[in-house]
Amino acid sequence: MSKISIIAAVADNYAIGKSNKLPWHLPADLKHFKSLTTGAAVVMGKRTFESLPNGPLPNRKNIVLSSMMSEGVTEGYYEANSIEDALELCDNEKEVFIIGGGAVYKQSMEFADLMYITWVHAQFAADAFFPTIDFEKWTEVSREDFEPDERNIYPYSFVTYQKV
Ligand SMILES: NC(=O)c1ccc[n+]([C@@H]2O[C@H](COP(=O)([O-])OP(=O)(O)OC[C@H]3O[C@@H](n4cnc5c(N)ncnc54)[C@H](OP(=O)(O)O)[C@@H]3O)[C@@H](O)[C@H]2O)c1
Repeated sequence: MSKISIIAAVADNYAIGKSNKLPWHLPADLKHFKSLTTGAAVVMGKRTFESLPNGPLPNRKNIVLSSMMSEGVTEGYYEANSIEDALELCDNEKEVFIIGGGAVYKQSMEFADLMYITWVHAQFAADAFFPTIDFEKWTEVSREDFEPDERNIYPYSFVTYQKV
């Protein structure tokens, strides 16, 4: 059985996306995301998949959730039409990362064992949000806080939560 981890960058107002893009540019978070997910499986919603600038994420098993399966063979990713099917495709993986977006995070909270949240300490206009976190169900197990710098203009924190 794989470990199921949610990974998300979330603003103070729980914003995660606007017009199918991230509301911020935070290269430190992209690097963090890459280093945690490389070599593992990633499960995402169709809209998040469509937002990827270069198609499937390299060196990861990509699984895209959609109610409409493609005709023919897909290049560089798998499709699933339910979270259960997506997780079945990952049976042999040590860790499966749920990488968004809002609709998929909401359905995954009950399955996940761990959450890697990058808190972006600012408020953003958004049309996609992270679900409310019930902190009675999640314990903080690690935290690193960062001040803004030239390339990352918002303060941010990498926080890991484990399900109680
Ligand atoms: N800040 C972050 O860490 C982060 C991470 C990822 C994404 N985002 C942002 O989040 C936004 C996208 O989120 P979103 O909520 O609009 O869309 P989404 O969750 O990426 O995708 C939603 C779509 O996925 C498919 N889907 C979801 N659950 C399914 C299920 N159980 N079974 C079958 N198909 C399922 C459906 O596709 P069909 O309509 O094809 O059936 C649905 O319309 C973007 O702005 C993106 O940039 C932010």
